[in-house]
Amino acid sequence: MAQISDIGVDLGTSNVLIYMKGKGIMLREPAVVAIERESKKILAVGSDAYRMIGRTPGNVLAVRPLRNGTVSDFELTSTMLRYFVGNVVGRRMFSRPRAVVSVPSGVNEVEKRSIISIMFDAGMRRTQLLDRPVAAALGVGLQINEGYGSMIIDMGAGVTDIAVMSMGEVVVSSCVPIGGDYFDDAIIRYLRRKHNLLIGERTAEEIKINIGCAVPQIGDITMDVTGRNLISGLPKTQSVTTSEIHEALKEPVGELIEAIQAVIERTPPQLASDIFDDGIVFTGGAAALKGLTEAVYGALHIPCGVADDPQTSVVMGCGRALEDLQGMKHLLGDGRKNWNR
Ligand SMILES: Nc1ncnc2c1ncn2[C@@H]1O[C@H](COP(=O)(O)OP(=O)(O)OP(=O)(O)O)[C@@H](O)[C@H]1O
Ligand SMILES: [Mg+2]
Repeated sequence: MAQISDIGVDLGTSNVLIYMKGKGIMLREPAVVAIERESKKILAVGSDAYRMIGRTPGNVLAVRPLRNGTVSDFELTSTMLRYFVGNVVGRRMFSRPRAVVSVPSGVNEVEKRSIISIMFDAGMRRTQLLDRPVAAALGVGLQINEGYGSMIIDMGAGVTDIAVMSMGEVVVSSCVPIGGDYFDDAIIRYLRRKHNLLIGERTAEEIKINIGCAVPQIGDITMDVTGRNLISGLPKTQSVTTSEIHEALKEPVGELIEAIQAVIERTPPQLASDIFDDGIVFTGGAAALKGLTEAVYGALHIPCGVADDPQTSVVMGCGRALEDLQGMKHLLGDGRKNWNR
């Protein structure tokens, strides 16, 4: 008889990932729900809904319920989470498994409790929440229980979590709304200003991934971008270069560097010196922006590295916590606080 095991969930603002104990990552889906505008009926969830963004007929809305790191629509978030968890655990449930969930930093206490209760309804016996930077650090295998300081920066779509850890605890941290979406918005604004070209967020994301860069590149690569000419109102294709996108991203990248510097300034000197020696580890999809670590190194002179497959670090960390719930007890709070009902 197949017995379902415990699961780890990274509830991100743009992607949801689920890890199953002993099996690995079982689900990786965009955090998108498509609904009918009038009736609010749910038409699709995840990748099916994602395909509708920006190209949906007038009566269909494709929404990201967790946009900007806060829960903009809790009902939809619940439905989405229930759907994804249901997909993984299915009806094969004979024992009630446990879950470790990492939620966006903007989620408040009431919403956290609702997430735990959604997980309960989805069949979980017990759900514990894991801080995102701690999950990211566990996911990349940092020895966070040691006495020296380490810095981890998780850059998602909605927010960036910057944390200094030592002895298994977050010593200094900051959560700023400078993530992948913020970079996309900067590209949208730049092309509107420079070329009177209006593009959608999916196009902006494609530009960022294809030719985006945080430091100047040798030799310009160009990309043809189609949008709407704001003056004529007609579709227009414009050739856009890497140096233009570098220009567009300069300000948000600068803001990110300032946020990192502010955390370093608040870090006790001994731990700060460990970070200058060992460097910063970046996780999260937005950390894959070309030249990002070079830009941070150029400004702060701290060595930087990006995790392998950075989009999976947080869920892998939830997985590691699951594999050793007893040993990781102190990271998961007192546990009891997060017990179901
Ligand atoms: N190669 C790339 N270059 C630049 N950005 C990228 C790349 N690949 C993915 N991204 C960006 O990474 C972001 C998604 O990352 P991730 O899945 O870690 O976010 P999330 O966990 O859903 O969000 P959050 O952690 O803020 O809740 C998107 O903004 C996406 O555009
Ligand atoms: Mg994330």
